[in-house]
Amino acid sequence: MEIKITKARQVLGELRVPSDKSISHRSIILTSLAKGESIVKNFLKAGDTLTTVSVYRSLGVEIKEDGDIFRVKGVNLFGYKEPEDILDMGNSGTTTRLTLGLVSGQNFFSAMTGDDSLRKRPMARVVDPLREMNAQIDGREEGHLLPLSIRGQELTGIEFFNKKSSAQVKSALLIAGCLTDKCVSVVEKIKSRDHTEKMLFAMGADIQIEEKERYKVSIKGKKELNPVEIDVPADPSSAAFFAAAAAIVPDSEILLKDVLVNPTRDGFYRKLKEMGAEVFYINEKEKVGEKIADILVKYSPDMKGIKITKEDVPSMVDEIPLLAIVATQAEGETVITGAEELRVKESDRIKAVVENFKRIGVKVEELEDGMIIKGKQKIKGGIIDSYHDHRIAMGFAILGLISEEGITIKNADCVFISYPNFFEDLEKVVKH
Ligand code: S3P
Repeated sequence: MEIKITKARQVLGELRVPSDKSISHRSIILTSLAKGESIVKNFLKAGDTLTTVSVYRSLGVEIKEDGDIFRVKGVNLFGYKEPEDILDMGNSGTTTRLTLGLVSGQNFFSAMTGDDSLRKRPMARVVDPLREMNAQIDGREEGHLLPLSIRGQELTGIEFFNKKSSAQVKSALLIAGCLTDKCVSVVEKIKSRDHTEKMLFAMGADIQIEEKERYKVSIKGKKELNPVEIDVPADPSSAAFFAAAAAIVPDSEILLKDVLVNPTRDGFYRKLKEMGAEVFYINEKEKVGEKIADILVKYSPDMKGIKITKEDVPSMVDEIPLLAIVATQAEGETVITGAEELRVKESDRIKAVVENFKRIGVKVEELEDGMIIKGKQKIKGGIIDSYHDHRIAMGFAILGLISEEGITIKNADCVFISYPNFFEDLEKVVKH
């Protein structure tokens, strides 16, 4: 599908964007470990999270869709069944890496593969520490690329330094940690998103957290886990597109309802404020250990360029391409460094942003670990490619709203991965 986004007069209104992708994945994967039935309200029905549902059904977990509610019948740590076929992980890195932790400790054989993008993404980061825990994993390039095969084993403990601050790696190890009575610890210099430890704690897992100089989470497993009730808040990564739109389109104002504002996830909004944008959290509250708020964003013509460094990356890792797009409208340069992780996401997001900027005449300098964006640029428009990456498609749609001639997005259907109704929601709030 190809779609053209044209200049908007204004972005105005209120939206409850789809539910959080990270929490939705975990609301199936983690609750499947419990003894008994968990209830998930507001589960995100999108490409990646439906992949998780289908994979866990293949692993013998009963998951019922009951109107707006998903009911997950936990199998009590080891009651999964050997899948009859290769598990298809589609485009989903989170499903793949978290499930690797789970099947490594089960008493059966399994295999997994994924689409063209996922088969290029690095798995060593999770396979190597799991092997240290005694996991038996094989696959392409010594088990570092999908397809992978896993012969489940009795796992042992580990203390692992999560250098990349990858929440997927941390989560895979904590899930594997649920399956052994030896201690599993993950240490991080910059804390990554902490939904897994929050949810496991709510389920009664034996989780210890130390937050001194470094963040350290430890788990002692082989402990029965309780079912829980989860109400998934709106996804800050999806809401970010509309926050960006309101900040750059004249006379705009948008209210984004019920958004997850966990400090390990809301870096984009904090950086937008640092640029001088009008961003306000209202009605702040807490639900099952997670902070949520309504976010109000107003047109912000006086934004200034900023620096994004390594420390900033984990809490806004998926929003950096969008921040680069906003930065084209700020005064002065924005310099993004320490973001080499972007090269191994659903696409090489540094290359995708830089090449698309160049296609539509936007000035940018590519760095190995980021980019430098010039501010106050006129956006002429033209044709860009999503590289089959949902966040690239949505980010450039937002830039289309301030383009003179419109931006045509090739391969725009990939938005279904995290936000199936993105273009419909955009229509609702954009005034031409
Ligand atoms: C995710 C963690 C992040 C993020 C991804 C979802 C998660 O990846 O980019 O979209 O749900 O744990 P990394 O763990 O690779 O940083």
